[in-house]
Amino acid sequence: MPDIAITRTAHPKTPPADDSLAFGKVFTDHMFLLNYDEGQGWHDPRIVPYGPFTLDPACCVLHYGQAIFDGLKAFRGADGQIRLFRLRDHARRVNRSGHYLCIPEIDPEMIEESIRKLVEVDQNWVPSKPGTALYIRPTVIATETFLGVHPSHSYLYYVIVGPVGAYYKEGMNPVRILATDKYVRAVQGGMGAAKTAGNYAASLFGAEQAAKEGYTQVLWLDGVHHKYLDEVGTMNIMLKIGDEVITPPLNGSILAGITRDSTLTLLRDWGLRVSERPVSIDEVIAAAKAEDLEMWGTGTAAVISPVGELGYKGERYVINGGRTGALTQKLYDTIVGIQYGTLPDKFGWTTTLGNRREG
Ligand code: COI
Repeated sequence: MPDIAITRTAHPKTPPADDSLAFGKVFTDHMFLLNYDEGQGWHDPRIVPYGPFTLDPACCVLHYGQAIFDGLKAFRGADGQIRLFRLRDHARRVNRSGHYLCIPEIDPEMIEESIRKLVEVDQNWVPSKPGTALYIRPTVIATETFLGVHPSHSYLYYVIVGPVGAYYKEGMNPVRILATDKYVRAVQGGMGAAKTAGNYAASLFGAEQAAKEGYTQVLWLDGVHHKYLDEVGTMNIMLKIGDEVITPPLNGSILAGITRDSTLTLLRDWGLRVSERPVSIDEVIAAAKAEDLEMWGTGTAAVISPVGELGYKGERYVINGGRTGALTQKLYDTIVGIQYGTLPDKFGWTTTLGNRREG
C-alpha cells in the first residue's frame, strides 16, 4: 500500500463549540484524496487542505450519477480516547456499494488507512460532548468527461469529516414517520442496497410531501406490492410486537445498515427472538391499534431513533404512547456506551486511534 502524502493547511480554522453542532454543516481543515485512472489503478493517496474541486461541466457524475458514499463516526470518550466505530465494516461497504455502480474496487486497507490518518490529522475537531461525534464521509465520484452512457474510466475517492450533533432536530425524542403507498425509493433488482446518491435523490420528493404533513421522515414500502416495510432512507426500521423483534430482510432493496447489524447482534446476544422477515404495514397498524408495538430506526447518523407516530392513508397511529420504549432506550444506551468507551466492546467494534487493530 503506498504511503499517504500529507500537506497541512497554513490556515487552520477554530472548531465550533460542541453545543452548537448540527449535522453535516461544518467540515475540518483537511480532506483525503485518491485518484483512479484506467491502466494505472488507484493512485496518489494524499491528505490536503479542505477545499472545493474543479470539475468539467461534462464530468459524467454530474449527468449520470455514478457516485457512492458511506458514513461512519469517530467518538471522543470520557477517557479522552478517540474510537472509530466499525471501521472495517464501513470500508467493506464502500466496495459493495461501488460494485452496483461499476466502480473499481479500492484496497479496503487503503480505505481504512485513509480514514484513520485523516481523523488523526484533524483529531482536534473530534468533539467530546455526549451525543456529538466526528462524522466521516468517504465518497467516490466518476470523473471522466463525456456524455455517452457508460461507466467512467476515471474516479476520485475522497474523505471529508466534520463534527456533528444529533441528526434529527428531535434528538433522542420520538420521530413521526409517514408510510407512503404513492412514492417508491427502490425495488429489488435495482440499487436500493447501495449507498448511492440516486437513492437519496429518489427520496426527496416523497420526503417533502411528508414534511408538509408534519412528518420527520418517510417509511418506504416495497416497490411492487406497496405493502411490506423497506426502510426509512436515513435509517433501517425495526419493531417489537409481542416478544418478537422484527426487521425487514436484506432483500436487495434496502441498505445493509451497520447499526442495523450492531442492533441485531446485541438483541440476539440478549436472548431475544429476532426475525429478519417481511413485515406488512397492516401487521404494524394492527399492533399499533392493539397497543403492542415498539418501533425504532437504526443508522449511523440517526443512531437509535424512537418512532412515536406512524401515518398511513390519512390516519395517524400513536406508537407506545408517543414515548421512547424500554428496549429502544436500552439499545441506544448500549450502542452509545460502546462508542464512547463507557461499556465494554465485547464484539470488537471499535478501533482506537493509534491502535491498528479492531477491539
Ligand atoms: C448515515 O447514517 O451515515 C447516512 O448516511 C444517512 C444520511 C445522513 C444520508
